[in-house]
Amino acid sequence: MTNAKLTSLMARGTEFLGCDVAIMCGAMSWVSERNLVAAISNAGGFGVIACGAMTPELLDKEILGTKALTNKPFGVNLITMHPQLFDLIEVCARHEVGHVVLAGGLPPKGSIDAIKAMGAKLICFAPALSLAKKLTRSGVDALVIEGMEAGGHIGPVSTSVLAQEILPEMAAQLPVFVAGGIGRGELIAGYLEMGAAGVQLGTRFACAAESIAHPNFKKSFFRASARDAISSVQIDPRLPVIPVRALKNEGTEAFTAKQREVANLLDSGVVDMGEAQLQIEHYWAGALRRAVIDGDVEGGSLMAGQSVGMVTKEEPVADIIAQLMAEAVVALERRSA
Ligand SMILES: Cc1cc2nc3c(=O)[nH]c(=O)nc-3n(C[C@H](O)[C@H](O)[C@H](O)COP(=O)(O)O)c2cc1C
Repeated sequence: MTNAKLTSLMARGTEFLGCDVAIMCGAMSWVSERNLVAAISNAGGFGVIACGAMTPELLDKEILGTKALTNKPFGVNLITMHPQLFDLIEVCARHEVGHVVLAGGLPPKGSIDAIKAMGAKLICFAPALSLAKKLTRSGVDALVIEGMEAGGHIGPVSTSVLAQEILPEMAAQLPVFVAGGIGRGELIAGYLEMGAAGVQLGTRFACAAESIAHPNFKKSFFRASARDAISSVQIDPRLPVIPVRALKNEGTEAFTAKQREVANLLDSGVVDMGEAQLQIEHYWAGALRRAVIDGDVEGGSLMAGQSVGMVTKEEPVADIIAQLMAEAVVALERRSA
């Protein structure tokens, strides 16, 4: 068994994404901009622009900028709660973006139709089997299942359990990409053998040579081990906040204070629940920007997954992908020996 086995296990994913290697670089706000996205796609993987809180005008520029750096396919990740979601979809349509990833909750009414009408393939996150089935019935083209080992906003269930619950039921119906905690190729081989069409990694690519993340941000990743990447804690039962996994720093404490502040505003009726949750999300976006762009690794948010211990140095994206593929091949060869 050689690369042929890996190529065949990835065939469904590469065909769906239109690239050589069924490895997606998950969108990371502030990090997944034109340089990293183009580098991933140029190296044969699949880059995804993180729209995050960008305005439609900024997204327009980012897509144009990415197209100037690569002629390979890439996707755009949109957050469902963005107040201008439909304008952002229109921007993607104008640029004939081939793949749209919707993150941050179930797609709001009309968004699936709007994305399918523009001819793009729609990828959604499925945090449970029941939701995977519901999304499939709604017409989404592929799913990402992401476990709580991942960096950034996370659900409560581990990748290994989600994979066992969802892949056997759903993999025959549509391509499913597995994300969260993947740092080596042996694991990629395992998920592919279980029926995954491919994988999505974030943490492993965040500090690539082509990533514009601040050198301080990268240094924090290189020094950290798995146990430093901890999930945020909800302090007020009335204010449900989606947990975020990040490296522990002063910002971790600041988030606790922020929750208290927003909970007080909620109590006094100054804001409603929707506004309270939006304030929390704006807090994260600002804190992540401070760490990634300004290099404030104490006060900012160092979103990172548990695989951060396997990120030890700055490497070109192509080298990271080549290493993951080589490890996957070794694992498959070992199985057949
Ligand atoms: C710094 C950082 C920022 C992220 N921002 C986003 C985002 O804006 N939208 C999104 O859908 N996922 C986001 N994620 C999740 C990634 O897209 C990806 O699914 C995740 O990193 C995969 O798990 P891993 O970190 O264990 O590789 C982010 C992750 C990190 C580490």
